[in-house]
Amino acid sequence: MAEKVQNQTLHIAKSSKKDEFYTQLIDIEIELEYYKEHFKGKTVFCNCDDPRVSNFFNYFFYNFEELGLKKLIASCYNNKEHNLFNNYSTVNGYYAEYSGNKDGNKINRPEEINIIAFKEDGDFRSVESINLLKQSDIVVTNPPFSLFREYVDQLIKYDKKFLIIGNINAITYKEIFKLIKDNRAWLGIHLGRGISGFIVPEHYELYGSEARIDDLGNRIVSPNNCLWLTNLDISKRHEDIVLTKTYFGNEIDYPKYDNYDAINVNKTQNIPKDYRGFMGVPITFLHKFNPDQFELVKFRKGNDDKDLSINGKCPYFRILIKNKRLQM
Ligand SMILES: C[S@@+](CC[C@H](N)C(=O)[O-])C[C@H]1O[C@@H](n2cnc3c(N)ncnc32)[C@H](O)[C@@H]1O
Repeated sequence: MAEKVQNQTLHIAKSSKKDEFYTQLIDIEIELEYYKEHFKGKTVFCNCDDPRVSNFFNYFFYNFEELGLKKLIASCYNNKEHNLFNNYSTVNGYYAEYSGNKDGNKINRPEEINIIAFKEDGDFRSVESINLLKQSDIVVTNPPFSLFREYVDQLIKYDKKFLIIGNINAITYKEIFKLIKDNRAWLGIHLGRGISGFIVPEHYELYGSEARIDDLGNRIVSPNNCLWLTNLDISKRHEDIVLTKTYFGNEIDYPKYDNYDAINVNKTQNIPKDYRGFMGVPITFLHKFNPDQFELVKFRKGNDDKDLSINGKCPYFRILIKNKRLQM
């Protein structure tokens, strides 16, 4: 199955004029493994996905029964420059729905599912796409990065559960950080190198030392700068970070900021177990964050609203946290 799907993806990617990153089936499989209990009886919507080629659509189609899904919907955006299929109009987007094999209805492969044309272009913000969103419980996809804030904002507005791929930098957007701070979104399991790479079209530069052409001829780039963002609970989120270091006796390793009463910690593993005050940690801390153990206090800025600094130098984006266990 994987071979066929990936070949199709390549074919479509080749015909695309736009820079596109297609998610590999393997990366979807290894992440979704951790969320299975959330899908029973649910409608899943992949709203930036061509149902004929998307590996998200393929994943949910082939795992429909195992997950106990109610319905699967995928919709595809189609703008004027981006026409994936010659037999479809250049302006209409389209979508497909699958409710499992029942009532004598036997569909063996995703390609056998009827494609339904939208009246508009299938933009995730269009009325037609939002109508599908309203019917859905969980949105799972890799959306366009340039529209990430707007994309997440819409999911929140319609109170949807989601599991989506974004760039690690998205954490630094104040809107996204606020969601994380308020415990309305968190990082999934895989991030950075944990997401193996994306299939890109032929005209796309194969950049980076890990760029490759796989056995199926797919052109893969591994930017190693992506993450999964979700509001589906995962057990990892409830595991404490094991703290082994101490602040007292090692104060020199934990300088205070010039513009906030907090100590700087360079690595998550170096968070001292005995410090009750505020601590500034790198954004990668969020990958290990357990909201029962730590509180997220503030992002990046000191009291003067400038970047946190130590003797005038600013370490890369810091998040201010506090150890909740020591407050009891
Ligand atoms: C990063 S690619 C990922 C594609 C697919 N979700 C996957 O993971 O393989 C983002 C996709 O969003 C589509 N897209 C761009 N703008 C969109 C919009 N306004 N509404 C819906 N989809 C859009 C692009 O055409 C592109 O296929």
